Amino acid sequence: MDKQAMLETARQMVAQIDDLPTIPVVATQVLQLLDDPDVNVDKVADLMLTDQVMTARVMKMVNSPIYRPSHEVTSLKRALVYLGIHHIKEIALTSSFISAFEDKGGVIDISTFWVHAFGVGMVSKIIAEKIHYRDLEKAYLSGVIHDIGEVVLSYYKPEQFAAILETIRQKPVRLVDMEEQEFRTTHNEVGFCIAEKWNFPEAYREVILYHHNPREAVNDPVLCSIVNLADLFCSVRDLYYGGDAWASFNLSEEEGWVILREKHPELAHLDVERFCYELDDAVPMVKEVVTSIFS
Ligand SMILES: [Fe+2]
Ligand SMILES: [Fe+2]
Repeated sequence: MDKQAMLETARQMVAQIDDLPTIPVVATQVLQLLDDPDVNVDKVADLMLTDQVMTARVMKMVNSPIYRPSHEVTSLKRALVYLGIHHIKEIALTSSFISAFEDKGGVIDISTFWVHAFGVGMVSKIIAEKIHYRDLEKAYLSGVIHDIGEVVLSYYKPEQFAAILETIRQKPVRLVDMEEQEFRTTHNEVGFCIAEKWNFPEAYREVILYHHNPREAVNDPVLCSIVNLADLFCSVRDLYYGGDAWASFNLSEEEGWVILREKHPELAHLDVERFCYELDDAVPMVKEVVTSIFS
C-alpha cells in the first residue's frame, strides 16, 4: 500500500482521538534544564520532586540492575549525582512514557509491552556501542519509543486489535501486515503522527516510521537499522508481545545489518554468533528491570 495514503489514514485516526496521552510538563522542563551545560543538580532534584510518580520511578530505576549501584541509593539528589546527566534524561523520558500510557494498554498487556520497549532500548544501546554510534542515549530512547503506535492502536481500536493479536497467535503472520489489512495503516504511521504531535525531534520520528524498513530512512538510516535489529532480536528472545512470526532470524542477512555493514565496514570482522550471545546476556536484566519498575 502507498506509504503516503497510510500516513494520511493514520493522521485522520489520530485527529479523532480527543484524549491522546500527553508527555508530563515536568519531563519537558527537566529536559530543558539538562540541556544547560552548567545545570544545577539541586534545581533538577527540586523540579523532579514536584512529580511524585517520576521521583518514585527514578528511585526504582536507580536501584535496578541497569545502573547497578553498589549499595541502595535512598535520596533523589544522591540518585541524580550517581546517575549523571545522560542517565537522568533517559529516566525522565522513560518515566514520562510510562506515565503517558499508564492506563492506556488496551488489549496489550502494558507490562509485556514495556518488556519489549525496554528490551529494544537496551539492545539498541549495546548495538550502538558496538558500532561506536555517536549518541548512545538517543539509541536507547528511540528503542524505547519505537512501537508507541502499537499502544495507541491497542487502546483506541481494541476490538480490531484484539482480533489481530488472536490471528498472529495462531498463524505466523506479521503484526504490521495484519494492521495494514485491518486499518489500512500500521503502528508505524500512527506512532509517527503521535510523535509529530509531541514535537519529537525528526530522528525519533523517523525511527518510529521506518523501524521495519530502515532502507527507506533518509535522515539517520543507521539509527533505524540499530532499532530494527534490536527489535528483531527481542522478538525472537521472548521480549515481545506480538505472536511468533519471527521464530528465528539470521542477523547477517537482515536489511538493517546490511546497512550497518555498508556504513561500518569493520563489522565484517565481527563474530556475529558471539555478538548474539552477548546480546542474550541483556535478556534476564530487561525482565528484572521491568519487574522492579512495575512492582
Ligand atoms: Fe514495530
Ligand atoms: Fe517492536
